[in-house]
Amino acid sequence: MRNAEITGWGKCMPPNVLTNHDLEQLVDTTDEWITTRTGIKERRISHVEASELAAVAGLRALAAAGKTVNDVDLLLVATCSGDSIIPSTASVVQRHLKAWNAAALDLNAACSGFVYGVVVGTNMIRGGTNNTVLLIGTEKLHFVTDFTDRTTCVLFGDGAGAVVLEPTDEPIGLLSSELGMDGSVGHILGVPRDGTAGDPGPIDPRASAIGMEGPELFRRAVTTMGDSAARAVKDAGLSLEDIDLVIPHQANTRIIDATARRLGVDESRVFVNIHSYGNTSAATIPVALTEALEQGRVDPGDNIVFTAFGGGLSWGSAVYRWGERVEPLGESDAELPPPDRTTMELLQANFDFFGLPEKLT
Ligand code: UT7
Repeated sequence: MRNAEITGWGKCMPPNVLTNHDLEQLVDTTDEWITTRTGIKERRISHVEASELAAVAGLRALAAAGKTVNDVDLLLVATCSGDSIIPSTASVVQRHLKAWNAAALDLNAACSGFVYGVVVGTNMIRGGTNNTVLLIGTEKLHFVTDFTDRTTCVLFGDGAGAVVLEPTDEPIGLLSSELGMDGSVGHILGVPRDGTAGDPGPIDPRASAIGMEGPELFRRAVTTMGDSAARAVKDAGLSLEDIDLVIPHQANTRIIDATARRLGVDESRVFVNIHSYGNTSAATIPVALTEALEQGRVDPGDNIVFTAFGGGLSWGSAVYRWGERVEPLGESDAELPPPDRTTMELLQANFDFFGLPEKLT
């Protein structure tokens, strides 16, 4: 049977860092609160657009797969903080890459976007429509973050991760998946005014920022991710002992720990890097997968569980069997242009729009 496997992987994290101690200088928070309640120590603030992060991550993934941009016939960009709605962020990424042979579309399932993308990309290959799918999760969440709101500004960060999917006849790749959405509670996480809903007119800056009911999301994330991951493992015909690595969406270490407990997997089999990057929505899982490979945490034939939960409220879990190769075939020399501003200088545009954080007033 024609299957699809991940043959390349890469990430692009912008260099500007915003630490918990920096946030202590802006809002009424502490490193101790952020660390114990979320696990986050620092996050990245991008000086370029989400499409540029995506392009560099994409080039690195293509090099790891031994492919060129001309090979790509489908470009899937999972994002909820992309450059624009029209043209799609995928269109802009295609232009950066000069991937002229690729059909391209955005896929917005918020934090679950990468898991959705693996399922869509795999099925496009299985169905015979595509041969080289470049799937990128990219976010520039600081753009929609209000740094006067301590309940959200400590959580999010920017970054991109990418994978290349190619056909294989081996019994590897996606073994099972479960995707879901509960639009009846979509309002508990989102940016109220980032589309066409409502009348045209002046926009209240607060409506352009991410807002959320944190504790309610927390409760739903734990039950939904744990249960859907368990169902995906069962559907794959595996037991929990067969799972070598869980790569969960990185929204909060307490959510990750509780999900792992609910799933019945000990922490040594769970990949966590939220301390370095915070929540980068659709980018968390491809970035974590790339780092897991870089750190030798993936072995040939491993059974990996991806599980995510986020805006929508969306969720997705997938059981994925790795192939033989855990080393990249090549390396790209693609780099971002160096930043010309400090992290605080980059955030000034947010302060001008949303208002000055309380400690700067
Ligand atoms: O990406 C997928 C979607 N996102 C998520 O899944 C996020 C899910 N939610 C969470 O991760 C957690 O709910 C948060 C990290 C957002 C919040 O943690 P929490 O333990 O649920 O805190 P809380 O909202 O219940 O707030 C507890 C207290 C409150 O003070 P009072 O009312 O008890 O006096 C908050 O005002 O902590 C206060 N607080 C803070 N204190 C210091 C909230 N944010 C901060 C902060 N620094 N940054």
